[in-house]
Amino acid sequence: ASVAVNSRVLSLSLKDAETKGRFSSPVLENVRERQLILEKNQTLQLDCRGRWDLQWVFPSGVPKGYPGAQVEDSSCGKRANQFCSRLTISPALAQHTGRYRCRYAHKQRKHTSVYVFVTDSQRPFVNVEKEIPDVVYMTEGKHLVFPCKVTNPNTNVSLIKFPKIRIGTDQRNIVWNSRQGFVIHSPTMFYIGMFSCKTVINETTYTNTFLTHRPVNKIKDVYLNSTGTVQALQGQMLALNCTVTAEWNSRVSISWSYPAQVIIRRIMPRKNNMAFYSILTIHKLSKADRGVYICHVESGPASQEANTSVTVYEKPFIRIKHRDSPVVLAYAGQKSFRLSPKLRAFPEPEVIWLKDGKVADEQCSRYHVDGYSLVIRDVAEEDAGVYTILAGIQQFRLLQNLTLSLVVHVRPQIAEKAVAVQDPGTVLRASRLSLLCTSHGVPSPHFQWAWYPCPPKGRTDPHAR
Ligand SMILES: *[C@@H]1O[C@H](CO)[C@@H](O)[C@H](O)[C@H]1NC(C)=O
Ligand SMILES: *[C@@H]1O[C@H](CO)[C@@H](O)[C@H](O)[C@H]1NC(C)=O
Ligand SMILES: *[C@@H]1O[C@H](CO)[C@@H](O)[C@H](O)[C@H]1NC(C)=O
Ligand SMILES: *[C@@H]1O[C@H](CO)[C@@H](O)[C@H](O)[C@H]1NC(C)=O
Ligand SMILES: *[C@@H]1O[C@H](CO)[C@@H](O)[C@H](O)[C@H]1NC(C)=O
Ligand SMILES: *[C@@H]1O[C@H](CO)[C@@H](O)[C@H](O)[C@H]1NC(C)=O
Ligand SMILES: *[C@@H]1O[C@H](CO)[C@@H](O)[C@H](O)[C@H]1NC(C)=O
Repeated sequence: ASVAVNSRVLSLSLKDAETKGRFSSPVLENVRERQLILEKNQTLQLDCRGRWDLQWVFPSGVPKGYPGAQVEDSSCGKRANQFCSRLTISPALAQHTGRYRCRYAHKQRKHTSVYVFVTDSQRPFVNVEKEIPDVVYMTEGKHLVFPCKVTNPNTNVSLIKFPKIRIGTDQRNIVWNSRQGFVIHSPTMFYIGMFSCKTVINETTYTNTFLTHRPVNKIKDVYLNSTGTVQALQGQMLALNCTVTAEWNSRVSISWSYPAQVIIRRIMPRKNNMAFYSILTIHKLSKADRGVYICHVESGPASQEANTSVTVYEKPFIRIKHRDSPVVLAYAGQKSFRLSPKLRAFPEPEVIWLKDGKVADEQCSRYHVDGYSLVIRDVAEEDAGVYTILAGIQQFRLLQNLTLSLVVHVRPQIAEKAVAVQDPGTVLRASRLSLLCTSHGVPSPHFQWAWYPCPPKGRTDPHAR
């Protein structure tokens, strides 16, 4: 049995080797060269063969669904186990110049291609000159390409810096490539400005003009229109606006990291400096949308980000609890005292404080509501009482309350001290003398009497005259 298994493995791997060798990439038949040169109005015909379903990729000059381009797919090979595809473009035109690729539909990296020139003496450049020059972006450390591709590889093209500087190729830094245009390997500041590719055919001059632009990469600031935490209810909409200010001419790209998907992107230029913004919208929030939302901004090598966290509540709620105990203590004379139970709610509730059943801040001008707290200024004895906080969200018909007692301690005061101290005078020995001490305090004070002997007679106070 073990022999049988081994031979099956062997035959499988042989078969694998076979398929690997043949058509691991598709093949263009009858194309010997890496490029083809056709004349305008001729027919371009390419045949591709492979082991799997085939696909064509055209140059941008052949638009999707172009009626002059036909693709015929068929099965082929000895056992009809191969795939063949014939591309026909008729008539071929100058703008069809470019690279034609044939690839596997499901393995797109496996492909073959040919570059096709369709010559037209009246259209030496693939792209015709437009009224407004194309902008070519220069990036530090990257090649600069003036993309004046030609329809005939033998066209003599020169590069002109506006108005009249003729730039020759040097085969090292400045290179002409009929499939790309002029390539500048290490562009300097000299290459900022307006440039033309120029060719003369039959005494007619043709040009392709470009404006180079060196983007500035300077992000000044990135901010979200809500900082901190965003709170929302399930089913509600969430919209975050990420604004980027950057130096004039900067190009920025904005992307988001967030728990779910759906983006709207817009660009809005502002005076003096550029402000770009991107708005992320989630139409119906669910619990899964909770989390951190980060707006990433990149401008060339520079990058910055801003974030906010989003909390999604299943339903509106109000929760009130005592901070420590239902009885709180203050002292008479305290500059201010704050009654602040723990309150968590969403959305924002309206809060009313009652004292002994009546609206607190209507009762006394020393009371005011600050956020969810009741603040008492210059605490007095009469502030003691029963306080109730009512928190309500009318929209959802939610109402919660919590009651707490305020005890105000009053430092005992001796009433007799308030009036001028009277000399008890002389009292006969053995007679009865009563001394009165009146005091008030909260809680009730304890009294304690102490006796101190008078200073001995005759001893005069050194300070007295
Ligand atoms: C190409 O075909 C068009 C119309 O079919 C014709 O007008 C034109 O003269 C032809 N051009 C060439 C170069 O054959
Ligand atoms: C291009 O220029 C070379 C030499 O400058 C010349 O020999 C050649 O004929 C020119 N080709 C065309 C298509 O004008
Ligand atoms: C140049 O023009 C002449 C006369 O108009 C024409 O005979 C010739 O074919 C043209 N050459 C090219 C390359 O277009
Ligand atoms: C942020 O901006 C978006 C889009 O304009 C807006 O819908 C949303 O209400 C804003 N959020 C805040 C907290 O201002
Ligand atoms: C986004 O924010 C920017 C500035 O903060 C503002 O100008 C812009 O109008 C906002 N976009 C929307 C759609 O609200
Ligand atoms: C959010 O931003 C703050 C500062 O703005 C930063 O400290 C924090 O690490 C950021 N959080 C995330 C998840 O990026
Ligand atoms: C406070 O809530 C209780 C129930 O939790 C309710 O019976 C009472 O009437 C409420 N008091 C006020 C003043 O709304």
